[in-house]
Amino acid sequence: MKITFIGAGNVGAALAVRLAEAGHEVVLAETRDGSASVAKALGRSSRLTAKPLEEAVAGAEAVFLATPFSANEGIVRPLADALAGRVLVDCTNPVGPGLSHGLRSERSGSELLQSIAPGARVVKAFTIYGYENLDDPRYPAYAVKPAMLFCGDDAAAKEAVSELIADCGFEAVDVGGLVQALHLEHMTLLWVRMVRAGKQSPNLVWAALRR
Ligand SMILES: NC(=O)c1ccc[n+]([C@@H]2O[C@H](COP(=O)([O-])OP(=O)(O)OC[C@H]3O[C@@H](n4cnc5c(N)ncnc54)[C@H](OP(=O)(O)O)[C@@H]3O)[C@@H](O)[C@H]2O)c1
Repeated sequence: MKITFIGAGNVGAALAVRLAEAGHEVVLAETRDGSASVAKALGRSSRLTAKPLEEAVAGAEAVFLATPFSANEGIVRPLADALAGRVLVDCTNPVGPGLSHGLRSERSGSELLQSIAPGARVVKAFTIYGYENLDDPRYPAYAVKPAMLFCGDDAAAKEAVSELIADCGFEAVDVGGLVQALHLEHMTLLWVRMVRAGKQSPNLVWAALRR
């Protein structure tokens, strides 16, 4: 699949490397001249390339957004037309003061993103753990893989993203429409409060057990 990353920091670089090594054609968007994160990510895999933002989006089937939430609107609004019809994987989390929900739990960041780019096929994914687990999702002592919960309104987009989730080493768990994004964002806050603000190890994931 042709995949473009907007944002190549902790999250973007980890996923870009994994997907490139899995055989996808992965491009890092140059959102500004001399981006330290893009240069560093390019050094992590010879399979990665970089292109100017508009060109990178125009050539993509799926676009991953992995930027600070506060930057999303400024980046995405000018790209709204270019994103129409493309899968837009929202990896971002709105985090507010004191590790609260950044939109006061009134609306999810992904629904806000969908309203900014109405033609994009938004799927929220890769958000519920810290980047350490995106860098290395292996938990070899267990027979099950870590669950990656994702949601969105477009069935075909979700099917494509579920394959990308599997390629990254997770079990893809479809939790429903984009209306579920708010709950995934709270799940993220739970993990962040346990690990970043608490004493738990970042090597902590959820698994889906069924009977
Ligand atoms: N960190 C985690 O463990 C984690 C886990 C899951 C989800 N998330 C979410 O994922 C998103 C990215 O987090 P991160 O930890 O990867 O952040 P990060 O390491 O700080 O990387 C942010 C990336 O966004 C780019 N960027 C920043 N401001 C920008 C702007 N105004 N315009 C264009 N590009 C901009 C940066 O480029 P430059 O290098 O040029 O500044 C960098 O490539 C956040 O929304 C976060 O909540 C984080």
